[in-house]
Amino acid sequence: MLQTSVLRALGRQGSPRLPLLGGRGARCFVSGAPSVCEDAAHARAYFTTPIFYVNAAPHIGHLYSALLADALCRFRGLRAPGAGAPRLSTGTDEHGLKIQQAAAAAGLAPHALCDRVSAQFRRLFQDAGVAATDFVRTTEERHRAAVQHFWGVLAARGLLYKGLYEGWYCASDECFLPDAKVTRQPGPAGELCPVSLESGHPVSWTKEENYIFRLSQFREPLRRWLRSSPRAIVPEPFHHAVLQWLEEELPDLSVSRRSSHLHWGIPVPGDDSQTIYVWVDALVNYLTVIGYPKAEFRSWWPAASHIIGKDILKFHAIYWPALLLGAGLSPPHRIYVHSHWTVCGQKMSKSLGNVVDPTACLDRYTVDGFRYFLLRQGVPNWDCDYYDEKVVKLLDSELADALGGLLNRCTASRINPSGTYPAFCTACFPSEPGLQGPSVRAQAEDYALVSAVAALPKQVAENYDNFQIYKALEAVSSCVRQTNGFVQRHAPWKLSWESPVDAPWLGTVLHVALECLRVFGTLLQPVTPNLADKLLSRLGISAAERGLGELHFLPRFCGHQCPFEGRRLGPDTGLLFPRLDQSRARMVKAHGT
Ligand code: ME8
Ligand code: MG
Repeated sequence: MLQTSVLRALGRQGSPRLPLLGGRGARCFVSGAPSVCEDAAHARAYFTTPIFYVNAAPHIGHLYSALLADALCRFRGLRAPGAGAPRLSTGTDEHGLKIQQAAAAAGLAPHALCDRVSAQFRRLFQDAGVAATDFVRTTEERHRAAVQHFWGVLAARGLLYKGLYEGWYCASDECFLPDAKVTRQPGPAGELCPVSLESGHPVSWTKEENYIFRLSQFREPLRRWLRSSPRAIVPEPFHHAVLQWLEEELPDLSVSRRSSHLHWGIPVPGDDSQTIYVWVDALVNYLTVIGYPKAEFRSWWPAASHIIGKDILKFHAIYWPALLLGAGLSPPHRIYVHSHWTVCGQKMSKSLGNVVDPTACLDRYTVDGFRYFLLRQGVPNWDCDYYDEKVVKLLDSELADALGGLLNRCTASRINPSGTYPAFCTACFPSEPGLQGPSVRAQAEDYALVSAVAALPKQVAENYDNFQIYKALEAVSSCVRQTNGFVQRHAPWKLSWESPVDAPWLGTVLHVALECLRVFGTLLQPVTPNLADKLLSRLGISAAERGLGELHFLPRFCGHQCPFEGRRLGPDTGLLFPRLDQSRARMVKAHGT
């Protein structure tokens, strides 16, 4: 059983040039082969983050969305290099009542506030290594042109009419609310104020003539779309929730505001007395980026994957696809939805003063450390709680001790004085488990390790497809632990290069550990790009050997050549990831406890 699984996972029966990924998912890694992987079905891949409001500085929730998108995009680049570079877009949402009010409160002209805060987002994402190919601002001229064109298409298709809108409006959430979604809460002076039931933000009564979009016409088309594309919204509970919402009536949507009330926005073409609703304005950013309305946008649409927080699911899963269908375009390929970060059990908010500054976190924990933390601990299906001790504990144990320790153990000059990738000895570690022989040293657990690491790339890919990056990292971490167990078990430091009996086995132990490290380094690239680069460079792996298609784990085990054997390791550039808890480490050293 073990044997077949090891061999299957290693692709022994396959061609040596095939990646070591058996089973269903593997075919999408092989260029030219029929694709069973949905994500490869599109020649192009276009990932987007929400565009963020510029009313306040970025926090770790915004960074989390951008990192998820970045990791998905980088993973896509690793797995399908032939499909052309994927695109990753982010940016800022700068119009609307919320920004108009924030600027007034700060005593700034709206554009001054926008310039300042938009630059903060741009800088943060650059600092955090988010490899965005595009950054869009809704105050750009190209965006105004795209929005007005889009509006014109809806109008020409008879989907906009003028009508009286009367109801609640929540400026913080920039959304209209029915009575049932409004409650009363005591305000600062003790008086009862109407607030949104969902967000707790204040709402005000609005009555004005607006342009209205025939959203109600799209209830059935939306249901058909979601039923026929069961993976349109991932993870599944969010897909289900949207279908549930669509069980209820879908009223038409007011899509403009009186410009006397809202001047900070894009005017309705041909009617300056009205400003386009900020959500219509914002959603069209996904088209602006790819050149809409110029024909070139069609090579990127609908290959879009939107990464969003659950707070804006309705806008992306109902309004946006309906607007697109209305404009004669397809809904996006996929919507990836994640939940929220809380801080010490509380919602993050400016008024509570508990907003975690992402720039300070990148400084304190390093870029790769903080990326790893957010993506390893963030679970899209439910909210996650942030506190500092958790970061230190996780990074020290998984990056510094387990991964860094493993690399150090297998490359340090004391254990590997020649500084090369040692040879694998098939007599010590035959591909058939359970063989007896004088030189056989491998044990059942060692076959289990090889099997686990051979299966890891496919497991990681599946987790990425299901938007469970934390599970991909958990799987890597578990294999790192298993590899440390392997090294511990065979204690290579007790073996001697001088002994003809020990030397082949010593080389084999190190070879297997380095092969495992090569797999870990390759798979960690989307999450910790600098750390992975450091690791792979130390192993002497060239840039061309770092794709998923080139992985071929432990080729000698299945009788193939290993291009790394005998190769010089890269230079030692110090600890892979220094422990954060230095003070504790010093204390332990001093007291020997
Ligand atoms: O809604 N945890 O912008 P926004 C995790 N401009 N993610 C969080 C978060 C938290 N606590 N708080 C915010 C808007 N986010 C609109 C979007 S898109 C066409 C227009 C992330 O600045 C999450 O992705 O309020 C959420 O959906 C987004 O920031 C909202 O950012
Ligand atoms: Mg918000």
